[in-house]
Amino acid sequence: MPQEIGRRDFLRTSTAAAAVAGALARPVRAQSDRVNLGWIGTGSRGFYVMGRGYESKELLQVVAVCDTYAGNLAKGKDQVQTKGGNTPKTYVDYRELLADPTVTAVAISTPEHLHFPMAMAALKAGKNIYLEKPIAHTIEEGAQIVALAEKTGLVVQVGTQNRSSLLYKRAKDMVEQGMIGECHFTRAFWYRNFDTSAAVPAAWRYVIPDDASPENTDWKRFLEGAKDQKLAFDKHRYFQWRNYWDYSSGISTDLLVHQTDISNFVLGKTVPSSCVASGGIYMWTREKGDDREVPDTFSAVYEYPDKFELNYSSAFGNDQYGYGEQFMGSEGTIEVISRQYMNYFPQKFNGKPVKDRKEVHLDRLADLGQQDDGTAAHVRNFLQACLGKEKAIAPARAGQIAAIPGHLATMSYKMNKKVFWDDKTQKYRLS
Ligand SMILES: NC(=O)c1ccc[n+]([C@@H]2O[C@H](COP(=O)([O-])OP(=O)(O)OC[C@H]3O[C@@H](n4cnc5c(N)ncnc54)[C@H](O)[C@@H]3O)[C@@H](O)[C@H]2O)c1
Repeated sequence: MPQEIGRRDFLRTSTAAAAVAGALARPVRAQSDRVNLGWIGTGSRGFYVMGRGYESKELLQVVAVCDTYAGNLAKGKDQVQTKGGNTPKTYVDYRELLADPTVTAVAISTPEHLHFPMAMAALKAGKNIYLEKPIAHTIEEGAQIVALAEKTGLVVQVGTQNRSSLLYKRAKDMVEQGMIGECHFTRAFWYRNFDTSAAVPAAWRYVIPDDASPENTDWKRFLEGAKDQKLAFDKHRYFQWRNYWDYSSGISTDLLVHQTDISNFVLGKTVPSSCVASGGIYMWTREKGDDREVPDTFSAVYEYPDKFELNYSSAFGNDQYGYGEQFMGSEGTIEVISRQYMNYFPQKFNGKPVKDRKEVHLDRLADLGQQDDGTAAHVRNFLQACLGKEKAIAPARAGQIAAIPGHLATMSYKMNKKVFWDDKTQKYRLS
C-alpha cells in the first residue's frame, strides 16, 4: 500500500514541479488519501507538531525526517516509528530530502533564518509546506516566498495556529456579529519569566544537550543564509538561537507575529502604516552573564490606515498577566488569554450595558472541548488542503501580513526611529 501511494504521489510531485518550471499557477490536487510528509527540523516545535499531526493519522504518513542535530533526528525517527508504525528515511541535508520523489509535502520547523532557503527550495521542488512562523527572517524574503507560493499554487500553511483555535474563531464570529461595536484599539501582550525547560532561569535559555558538538550538529548547515558564515561553533547560538539577531528577531518575530496575525484574523486589520518600538536588554544582561542580543523588554505602537491602533508590550521578568489580546470596541471587549480563556465584557454606561448583552466566559478545553491551542486542527487543515479538500487557513500571504509588523518593529527598535510602511509599494521608510 505505501508503495502505491508513493507512485501516485510521485505523479503529483512531478506535476507540481512542472508547474514551477512552466510557471503555471494552479493548485495541486491530491491523488491519494494520505499525504507523504518529510519533516525538516524535529527539535522542540517540530517534534511537538508532528505529535499533534498524528492525531490525523489517517491523513498522513511521515516518510522522511531531516535534522542536523543527531539527537533530534533520532527523536524524530523514533516518534514516526512509535506513532506512525513505519521507519522514515533520515537526512541531514534537507536538499536530499526534497529530491526524494516519495515526499509530496514538507513541514519546516527550523530556526527562523532557515525558513527562506528551505521554503524556496521546497516550492521549487514542488512540495506543499507547513512552514513554522515567522514566514521569513526579512520582509523581502517573505515576499519572495509569497510570490512563489502563489505562482505555483502549492499549499503553504504558516504555523500561526491561533487561526485554528476555537476560541479565536468564536472571537471572530462575535466581532462579525457586531458584539463589540466599532473597534479602533487592541492591546496585545506577552509576558514571561522563564520557561520550565530553561537551563537557567532566563527566557529562551533552553537546555543544551550534553553531547552537543560541531560534529553532531552540522554547524555549517545551521549557518546557511546567516550573515556571519565564519563564526566558530557556538552551542548557545545553535540551541538558543532566538537570542541572536542572525537567526531570529526575538520578541518581534517569535511572539508578536502570532498576535498581529490574530488581529488580522479576528478584526480584519492587515498591515500597519507605521510603527514605533522601544525596549532593551534590561533583565538578562551581560553583567548577569547572558550574551543575548535581542531585547527582553519590548513595546511597539502601531497605527493602521483605517483608524485603528495596536499597542504591544512584552517583558521577560514577570509573567503575572500571561499573554493575550484585548479587542476593545465601543460596545464591548473580547479578550483571549493565554490561548486558554475567552472573555466578553459588554461596555457599560451608568452601570448598565449599552446594549442588552451578557458577559461570556469560555474555557477552551472545558467549554469547547479543544485539547490544544489549535495546533492539531491547524495541521489537519494543512493535510486536507494538500488533499484538495479544504483551503489552508494560514496561507503564505497571511503569514507575510503577520510578519511585516514584526519586522517593522525590529527596524524601529534597531534604528531608534519611527518606521512607515507603504502597502501599495511594499516599501518602508524611516523617519
Ligand atoms: N507556532 C508556534 O507556536 C511555535 C512555537 C515554537 C516554535 N515555533 C517555531 O518553530 C521553529 C523551530 O523552533 P524550535 O523551538 O523547535 O527550535 P529548536 O531549536 O528546538 O529546533 C530547531 C531544529 O532545527 C534543526 N536544524 C537547525 N539547522 C538545520 C538545518 N540546516 N537542517 C535541518 N535541521 C536543522 C535543529 O537541530 C533543531 O532540531 C521556529 O521557526 C519557531 O519560531 C513555533
